Amino acid sequence: MILVAGGTGKLGRVLVPMLAARGLSVRVLTRDLGHGNDLISDNVELAVGDVRDEVALDRAMVGVQTVVSAVQGFTGVGGESPRTIDWLGNRALIKAAEKSAVDHFILVSVQGASAVHPMELFRMKYKAEQDLRTSSLSWTIIRATSFMEIWTSMIGTPLLETGKTRIFGKGDNPINFVSSHDVARFIELAATDPALRGEIVEVGGPENLTLYQVAQVFETVLGKTGKKTRIPRSVMRAMATLLRPLKPAMARQIQAGVVMDTAPMSFDSAATRAKFPTMQQTTLAEVIRRDFNVSSTGVEI
Ligand SMILES: NC(=O)c1ccc[n+]([C@@H]2O[C@H](COP(=O)([O-])OP(=O)(O)OC[C@H]3O[C@@H](n4cnc5c(N)ncnc54)[C@H](OP(=O)(O)O)[C@@H]3O)[C@@H](O)[C@H]2O)c1
Repeated sequence: MILVAGGTGKLGRVLVPMLAARGLSVRVLTRDLGHGNDLISDNVELAVGDVRDEVALDRAMVGVQTVVSAVQGFTGVGGESPRTIDWLGNRALIKAAEKSAVDHFILVSVQGASAVHPMELFRMKYKAEQDLRTSSLSWTIIRATSFMEIWTSMIGTPLLETGKTRIFGKGDNPINFVSSHDVARFIELAATDPALRGEIVEVGGPENLTLYQVAQVFETVLGKTGKKTRIPRSVMRAMATLLRPLKPAMARQIQAGVVMDTAPMSFDSAATRAKFPTMQQTTLAEVIRRDFNVSSTGVEI
């Protein structure tokens, strides 16, 4: 049995059916059974629980050999934050797995995770990585770059629906984007191939693109141009400061936009490609065609 914490999220929703299609039994941990009803199948079941609830975690671990953690608290509200979910939530999951008969723990982290990264999320993921590496469990860490699917909906959907879109900051910083489907395939590999145990696998996409270029790829694929408005960094910084006491999750996301516009965010996936030559590397244009139902000629289908 594989327990997928975060199985109802964007990545989880690709991963869970992928594991099930291989005939693997999957249990999805969710705080709300309503989030995952559509995932239930012959070999997928749900377990209700919060990663901060020790009793619920002990219950969810029964009969589990492999845990995948794809939880995140970055966009969470209330008491959810990178600290409480990405670090302490993962720490609780690791402890519960150690107590139970779990053999292997796969942690989804972020490419660039480090103790000194300007973004809290990256520092908290790093702490969770350290907890896992010093645990008694066999482990694999999947460090992914930014998911293309998030940015296609943030930049592409408005462009498609209203003919205009917003670029956060100058939009001239190269960022590596990866398809969450390609990340899911690496997790599937980690769950089934013991060679990935004890490995940190850095999973990035084939392109480093600025946010401005992301919008341009959209325009090319869709065959339409739109208005691209830049939100100045100074405005983003001021909004993040003002919103912090009232809406911390929104403030965090705006602040992250500033970091993405200024910090080194590119990644060379050549080493991972050389090590895993058969793994797919989906381009942004392919993701747009897949998710926006566009034929290769730019016409919606
Ligand atoms: N998005 C990116 O660009 C990106 C890039 C690199 C790495 N990652 C990592 O990839 C993983 C998946 O990201 P995603 O974008 O697919 O996430 P997502 O769509 O935001 O989903 C978050 C998941 O976390 C679960 N979760 C949150 N708080 C929880 C709690 N207190 N207890 C139990 N479950 C909780 C949610 O489950 P319920 O709501 O059903 O409880 C949901 O399934 C995360 O670890 C993320 O940090 C993401």
